[in-house]
Amino acid sequence: MKELKIFGVITFFTLVTYWGVEPLAHSIFHPHVEPADFQFKDLEAITTTTNSDVAKGKELTSQNCIGCHSINNEGISAQVDKQTAIDNYGVFPPDLSTAGLIYESNYLANFIKHPVKAGKLEHKYDGVNKFYIMPDYSWMSNEDIHSMVAYFKSIAPTKLTNKEVFIDACGRCHNMKYDKVKADSDVTKVMGSTPPDLSMIIRSRGEHYLETFINDPQKHLKGTAMLRIGLNESAQKQVIKYLEEIGDSKKAEREAIAPYVLGFLGFMIFVSLLWKREVWSEVK
Ligand code: HEC
Ligand code: HEC
Repeated sequence: MKELKIFGVITFFTLVTYWGVEPLAHSIFHPHVEPADFQFKDLEAITTTTNSDVAKGKELTSQNCIGCHSINNEGISAQVDKQTAIDNYGVFPPDLSTAGLIYESNYLANFIKHPVKAGKLEHKYDGVNKFYIMPDYSWMSNEDIHSMVAYFKSIAPTKLTNKEVFIDACGRCHNMKYDKVKADSDVTKVMGSTPPDLSMIIRSRGEHYLETFINDPQKHLKGTAMLRIGLNESAQKQVIKYLEEIGDSKKAEREAIAPYVLGFLGFMIFVSLLWKREVWSEVK
């Protein structure tokens, strides 16, 4: 009877801790965030409501974008030289060869139209006293913007390695020391905060945090200077995969060992049961 009472008391406190304290601690350490939104529902529908014309998009791009951006796979280099760009903008504007593959189309259209809004940086740049480093093209018609997006899609490669996606999407700001990737930039001067080296970020933050963070940094760090990077789902998966390959290269190996460890434990339990039976069989 006494054992039963002890058991009851232990069970009671275990359940109180499990249902009463643990969820509370969890919700404080890991507040709930909405899952990543790859449709970017807060943005205006541009690409789904207008027609596009690739030839026109090409012309508009060469008139408006290549002052700052290169498009290497079309043999176009940026008119601004690297050091001047870094002095003026803090970063060297990314090459646009792959934009049509890595960014979600409607995000890309919205970014061209109004970068500060698409990047969720309105708290930093009011467009009156403080301007963002890329101009907005809100004076263009939605058709014209859609045409540029269609042009980027028409010239984009069909496939990229995980590292290539990282370089184009993150490499202008973030270092990846463990893979010798160095951002050519001076972001701190322009943005006021320093992008951390991402070599080990997969371990300190985990996959789930990164999934929601890249898709909308404001969800986790309200007021942060990092813009929302509107990658589509598969490009974002590639980036996270890359962070994992570099920061946690042993993960696959570790996971492959697990079944053997469990099997071994199961076997040992079986053996000890047999042994116990053997020993106690004499006691009857
Ligand atoms: C005055 C220079 C300048 C011009 C002109 C310019 N950009 Fe940019 N663009 C930038 C800079 C600087 C960045 C980097 C912004 C950042 O890292 O916060 C950028 C970033 C981008 C990005 C990355 C967006 C993301 O989510 O990471 C895309 C896509 C882009 N520009 C497209 C264009 C297109 C298309 C045009 C022409 C319609 C254009 N840009 C014209 C300077 C420029
Ligand atoms: C325009 C520059 C820029 C680009 C491009 C950029 N970041 Fe950042 N990132 C920053 C800055 C600045 C910070 C520091 C934010 C702060 O402290 O508020 C940051 C912080 C981070 C953090 C740390 C978050 C935390 O909880 O501390 C992660 C993770 C991150 N970035 C991932 C990425 C990934 C992945 C990409 C590419 C998909 C990317 N960033 C692209 C500027 C950038």
